[in-house]
Amino acid sequence: MPEQLTHFLEAATEIALAAGQVVLSYADKLAIEEKGRPGDLVTAADKGSEQLILEQLRSLFPDHSILAEESGAQGSSQSEYLWAIDPLDGTTNYAHQYPIYAVSIGLLIQGRPSVGVVYNPATGQLFRAALGLGATCNGKVLEVSATKELKSSLLVTGFAYDRRETPDNNYREFCYLTHLTQGVRRSGSASLDLAYVAKGNFDGYWERGLSPWDLAAGVVLVEEAGGKITAYDQGPLDLNSGRILATNGLIHDQLSQALLHTPASLAEL
Ligand code: IPD
Ligand code: CA
Ligand code: CA
Repeated sequence: MPEQLTHFLEAATEIALAAGQVVLSYADKLAIEEKGRPGDLVTAADKGSEQLILEQLRSLFPDHSILAEESGAQGSSQSEYLWAIDPLDGTTNYAHQYPIYAVSIGLLIQGRPSVGVVYNPATGQLFRAALGLGATCNGKVLEVSATKELKSSLLVTGFAYDRRETPDNNYREFCYLTHLTQGVRRSGSASLDLAYVAKGNFDGYWERGLSPWDLAAGVVLVEEAGGKITAYDQGPLDLNSGRILATNGLIHDQLSQALLHTPASLAEL
């Protein structure tokens, strides 16, 4: 099993590195389009990166199934292997050439996130992890932070593209946690948010409205770096629920309680 995981990790790494070069190659020909909701963008780089990833995965693992952001589900639904692909996580940042974006490649085995590679081609940071094999960034072993108190923590979150259409848009939680902590960042790339929790820069991350391709790879990074991943209420993570709570483990209960008991009005702060 570890040999098999290593094989998948190496393959995912090679593919992510190649996809990252595709992303960089489109920097001077962005071809930005809106996908549906205002602000939900897709560029030539998203499409080019996804095409390369799909071609390489199909040729290496023809029996595996794939869930990719731009082209959906493909392959046998019977397979115990599911690759969850975000060809460019942080498209809005990329469209503005703000260098916080990544190629995210996760592998679920029997539904469990088991291999994760997150590669930012703009910075050269390559995050890798596989179950039981640890997590690294450019070869250096990753460990989550040791921050014990929510009030001493730096958190990160994000806002989904449906934020103008739902009152459940994370705005209240963002304000409340800004009030309770040293700060809350909104970086614009869920996979890198998780990678930086794994690296110990952020003490915790939460978000709603996500998709499995945003999370599959980063979840493995955080778990293998010693962190904790659950639903907001600390129940098991459901990748299809769109919601995630990821921390260093030490502030997990405090952040969960804050999310579950966010005041209805900012006037109550
Ligand atoms: C988005 C980013 C962002 C998160 C959004 C995602 P995309 O992914 O991960 O940080 O807040 O919810 O949809 O569209 O750049 O791949
Ligand atoms: Ca994404
Ligand atoms: Ca994307």
